[in-house]
Amino acid sequence: MSLDLIVRNAALADGRAGIDLAVEGGRFVAIAPAVAAAARREIDAAGRLVTPPFVDAHFHLDATLTLGLGGKVNESGTLAEGIRLWSELQPHLTAEALRERALAYCDLAASQGLLAIRSHVDVSDDALTGAEVLVEVKRQVAPYLDLQLVAFPQMGYFSKPSVAENIRRALALGVDAVGGIPHLEPTAELGRDSIAALCGIAAERGLLVDMHCDETDDPASRQVETLAYETRRLGLSGRVTGSHLCSLHSMDNFYAARLIGQIAAAGLAAVANPLANMVLQGRFDSYPKRRGMTRVPELMAAGCAVALGHDSVLDPWYPLGRADMLDVAHMAVHAGHMTSQAGMRACFAAVTETPARILGLERYGIAVGCHADFVILQARDPVEAIRLRPARLVVVRRGRVVAETAPAVSRLSLAGRPDSVDPATIGAIGL
Ligand code: FE2
Repeated sequence: MSLDLIVRNAALADGRAGIDLAVEGGRFVAIAPAVAAAARREIDAAGRLVTPPFVDAHFHLDATLTLGLGGKVNESGTLAEGIRLWSELQPHLTAEALRERALAYCDLAASQGLLAIRSHVDVSDDALTGAEVLVEVKRQVAPYLDLQLVAFPQMGYFSKPSVAENIRRALALGVDAVGGIPHLEPTAELGRDSIAALCGIAAERGLLVDMHCDETDDPASRQVETLAYETRRLGLSGRVTGSHLCSLHSMDNFYAARLIGQIAAAGLAAVANPLANMVLQGRFDSYPKRRGMTRVPELMAAGCAVALGHDSVLDPWYPLGRADMLDVAHMAVHAGHMTSQAGMRACFAAVTETPARILGLERYGIAVGCHADFVILQARDPVEAIRLRPARLVVVRRGRVVAETAPAVSRLSLAGRPDSVDPATIGAIGL
């Protein structure tokens, strides 16, 4: 029997080593040591880590790669200036340029082994250019990348009367999920009303919800409390995500513990965006400066599904980024003091299997019967992957190679030393 593809001698994230993965018809058909079969293509993983693809639980594909457009960048570094620059830019965005930027980002994502993205799309502008374009982009990239779109009223559900209708129009166009931004509504009461209205739309239509929630240093911003309540009241457990949740960082421990219990009991997922929030939050602090990331280890310990998002790349909110979810996990390890082996493995799961579950991706994972979607990294295990953020040597979607990157190996000219060094072969050295 000749299969489509076999990867030999892989290490898996669960610690198994020396594993062969056999692929036929776009699915895994065998995963075991020394699979006795031939294939049209064989890849030697040489003991390196084979992981399911990276998944970004929170992104803005309509804003990406707009850094500096209109001759302006975010000088203060604040979230407020980012939103102002975006609202100035938005009416001038053309469908063609927006499509080009979105596709260019998806190219970069595929090259980094990032094969599923939940992207918010701003529906504040009545033209709905972003939603129209991204629904087309979603279809176009579907062979190599799962794009899930969230109708996101960036300026607020109650910012103008047409927003409620814009959300319905965006859903009719093919946008998948319902978003919101309750902490940005004109009053806290209207924030709560927006959550009830938006969760109501999702409940009525059987949709997922993902709200930007409490993205502020203000410990009095407690909109997630209402999001947890509405999730329970409407029977939406497992279908709702609270994104950012930055105010949890600044709340007192007693209240935060109570709130985390409510979030866990409601089955509400949480998404932290450590790269963006490390620089957007704490901007009104002198010293000490707050980190801005929500309480990731505490939420995980309470049993919440916690994923990580990139949020922004080269846009009015974040001037860096390269579609690398290992950069995101690396920052989460630092901002959340998650340097234990278990903590780092949890951060790796937060950019792979946990967001896959939150997005509802089917047949995701390294298991027989799952889609043959995977990445071979120039690293031996998830902890080394976070440490090195190494080359994605081979990226495979449905059994087909979609991207390849040469390993990073440096040539050395040092007397009496080896002539090259591969960062993934240097680790702790014993006595
Ligand atoms: Fe966001």
